[in-house]
Amino acid sequence: MALLEIEELRVGYGFPVLMGISFEVEEGETAVLFGLNGAGKTTTVSTIAGMLKPDGGAIRFDGSDIAGRPPTQLVRDGVALVPEGRRVFPALSVSNNLRLGSWTRRREQAEVDQRRQLVFDYFPRLAERADQAAGTLSGGEQQMLAIGRALMSKPRLLLIDEASLGLSPALAKTVFQVVKRINDDGVTVIIVEQNVGVLPYADRALIMEKGTLVFSGVGDEIRNANLRETYLGGGSE
Ligand SMILES: Nc1ncnc2c1ncn2[C@@H]1O[C@H](COP(=O)(O)OP(=O)(O)OP(=O)(O)O)[C@@H](O)[C@H]1O
Ligand SMILES: [Mg+2]
Repeated sequence: MALLEIEELRVGYGFPVLMGISFEVEEGETAVLFGLNGAGKTTTVSTIAGMLKPDGGAIRFDGSDIAGRPPTQLVRDGVALVPEGRRVFPALSVSNNLRLGSWTRRREQAEVDQRRQLVFDYFPRLAERADQAAGTLSGGEQQMLAIGRALMSKPRLLLIDEASLGLSPALAKTVFQVVKRINDDGVTVIIVEQNVGVLPYADRALIMEKGTLVFSGVGDEIRNANLRETYLGGGSE
């Protein structure tokens, strides 16, 4: 059984956006969700995280149908979302942003301290800036903080919406490398991206087009499919 099974998922905003998409992500994988602007990537991960209610279809997480479950419950169940646009709390310190990420475990102080240490281990820059207001961090550091905050809830499934948007190629690579480490430590990851530089870190690639899934592949299927030329807006660099 896959950790996440999406079946014929339909979601809209009064008009249909996801037209019945189906895919699976196995426990321990990193899946990358590609697609042009407006394809429905954010709608997909927001629905998995409980921010939107599906109009139809199923979302099974570890065998249970979680479609329509509230986001707070899903965080407890092990699903964490790093939303598009980073959305850290600018006036709060790095440490306090992290603490907010651990509110579902707030009664387990030792666990919270351990999680914070783990986040600082993944992102040493955050440790150096623990008392700094999050709004004064660079864009890359805010992205690290947004990922760190999601990790504080000890997710089994981490959803990252636009991990590298606005980051320099070097910083994007750093973020991808840390995501790889997080995955190696046992967390299943779905990462929304428009940067094919993430492919070396991906076990599975999913490509959306206008609310449908047009490609899903693993391993050599990804390398052989010429994703960039076929789906991602042309082959020229
Ligand atoms: N809150 C909303 N209200 C109405 N329509 C929306 C809303 N959010 C998204 N949409 C529409 O749903 C479609 C899919 O949007 P979505 O944000 O899921 O795409 P995306 O693949 O994440 O795009 P991008 O790469 O630009 O982030 C778009 O046509 C968008 O205009
Ligand atoms: Mg989006």
